[in-house]
Amino acid sequence: MSKLGPEEAINGDFAGRDILSVNQFSRPDVEMLFGVASNMGRMVEERGRIDILKGTILATLFYEASTRTSSSFIAAMQRLGGGIIPITGVQYSSVSKGETLEDTVATLGCYADVIAIRHPEVGAASKAAAATEVPVINAGDGVGEHPTQALLDLFTIQAELGTLDNLSIAMLGDLKNGRTVHSLARLSAKFGASLSYVAPADLSMPRELMDELDQLGIDQNSYESLDPVIESCDVLYVTRIQKERFEDAEEYERLKDSFIITPEVMRRAKPKMVLHHPLPRVNEIAVSVDSDPRAAYFRGMRYGLNVRMGMLPLVIGRSVDDIGIYAA
Ligand code: NCD
Repeated sequence: MSKLGPEEAINGDFAGRDILSVNQFSRPDVEMLFGVASNMGRMVEERGRIDILKGTILATLFYEASTRTSSSFIAAMQRLGGGIIPITGVQYSSVSKGETLEDTVATLGCYADVIAIRHPEVGAASKAAAATEVPVINAGDGVGEHPTQALLDLFTIQAELGTLDNLSIAMLGDLKNGRTVHSLARLSAKFGASLSYVAPADLSMPRELMDELDQLGIDQNSYESLDPVIESCDVLYVTRIQKERFEDAEEYERLKDSFIITPEVMRRAKPKMVLHHPLPRVNEIAVSVDSDPRAAYFRGMRYGLNVRMGMLPLVIGRSVDDIGIYAA
């Protein structure tokens, strides 16, 4: 048995597929996943759990810090009745003995039916995918991508605004190093979003990514101030300055508080818009903004659980019809 090549299009069939990049998803793939995720959301509200993945196991292999992504994958699997192998402190695994990524992943592939991996290097998830026959889900590869986060971000936006069509999405913060914005820009482009990038000059959206989206005819504009976009955006997606990606601590100190969203800033935004953040937040959204009804980042975590509950059965090979019967 061999898997399809990494990063190949999903094309309506998630079974056995690695989830490495949002580029694998067409708009119908996203819509199919969101349909299942919505069912999961309803089911969790009504019953809390459903045993459609009983007897299957998820391994989470995290070489980088995580609270939300690792716990929501684990919670998703447990609410689906499956088991987990959580390796969150790789320093306590054979990694500390010098085992390669490939050998560690091949090992977990002997025990688990699906592996979610986070690693500081771009391309590590693809490397992992090539080392095992079981599906590998990229839960963040350095400054590369974080596809399940982008899917949950888009699901959150849809749930909050009721549509994904022709939105004006402003992304703010560390656009150079933030993998979530790299994935979200690519994914929202598939829905015709126009994208505004607001960042200090040294942390701007990578040129290659902008070129990639230019080829698709996506409307993209870059700014160093929020002023041109705050009154017109439908979504303001705020990100943390990615401290761990800086070689120079002084550079981080200089840039860390470049933008702070306060109630004053929110007063200028549309009454119907979404303020979102992948979290963790450091200082870029004032706590006093949390009670603003447009602040969606805490609700986003619940939506993220629903999306991961939708994705796991699909990649493990359950059909939408099967899941539909259980989730109805
Ligand atoms: C993000 C990540 O790890 O890229 N967190 C997350 O998964 N929700 C964002 C970040 O760390 O800033």
